[in-house]
Amino acid sequence: MKQQIKQEIKKLVEGEVLFSEPLKKYTSFQIGGPAEVLVTPRDIADLQRLISYLYRCDIPYQVLGNGTNLLISDQGLSKVVIKMTDLFNWFKFKSNQLRAGAGAKLPVIAKKAAERGLSGLEFAAGLPASIGGAVIMNAGAGNLGSIGDLITGVKVISSTGELKQYRRNELDFSYRQSNLQKDEQIIIEVELELIPTDSKTVHNKMQKLFLKRKETQPLTMPNAGCIFKNPTDDSAGRLIDQAGGKGLKVGDAQVSTKHANFIVNLGSASAQDVLDLIGKVKKLVNEQCGVELETEIIYLS
Ligand code: EPU
Repeated sequence: MKQQIKQEIKKLVEGEVLFSEPLKKYTSFQIGGPAEVLVTPRDIADLQRLISYLYRCDIPYQVLGNGTNLLISDQGLSKVVIKMTDLFNWFKFKSNQLRAGAGAKLPVIAKKAAERGLSGLEFAAGLPASIGGAVIMNAGAGNLGSIGDLITGVKVISSTGELKQYRRNELDFSYRQSNLQKDEQIIIEVELELIPTDSKTVHNKMQKLFLKRKETQPLTMPNAGCIFKNPTDDSAGRLIDQAGGKGLKVGDAQVSTKHANFIVNLGSASAQDVLDLIGKVKKLVNEQCGVELETEIIYLS
């Protein structure tokens, strides 16, 4: 990116603008080279100004949520990376309706929903995602449903910088996917409808799931959640385990010995280590079980 463009971005944006900022600081994997430019917009107008400028100058950008489902290349990103978690970190309940900024933390919201006796977000107990990130990839857990089931509306900024609003019937969610992934739209606000129950029931369900996660997943080590999508009616973790993949290593990247669908960073794993390990696991499962695994995490380069 030209120096002049970087200076123009710095002048245009009211929020924080950093150059050559290491992205490993912003991902749960603690992996990732530098962002050429990292912007934290100050408000929606600031974000809109930036997006329409980037559109006019044909400069690529990448939105960053809580960085919990990402693998970022060791070379970093020659793009403008837009960090959403500071500014858009708010939420409001009105009866069983919830409105939240895209950068709000899902586990915090899930806990508040439980206190109010609102069911639907139990799957999010301890899931360290931003709500915007969770919606865009329709996060969920096992048979507890996923966030797409609860959405009644989404506000986005289009790739040209315009504010747009979608209602439920315009949105299309499927397993770990949504039509919001198309066209570089930036989610800024989501609206959910939760199910009134009683707080004890919701709390117990959440607690059970959280304890199960703690017991079966490597939550204390840097990771990016489940690496692979579950094949229909099966579990990628079970298949990798059965194929003998637990503990497999490339450099400092290791298939977790606790849950085989997780890769953990033992200290200084590179993105390339993780990619090579993913390749090895896919080959192993294909050879041993005849199943072609598909990655769930998003690779950015
Ligand atoms: N299993 C093994 N070995 C392993 C891992 C699992 O044999 O190493 C077996 C388990 O014993 C169980 C079955 O596989 O019989 C399913 O395991 P688990 O209950 O852990 O569920 P999962 O299908 O592996 C899904 C989600 C998780 C979510 C859990 C909550 C996906 C890809 N994974 O995992 O989500 O936390 O359910 O129970 O949908 C994520 O999306 O990032 C994620 C981690």
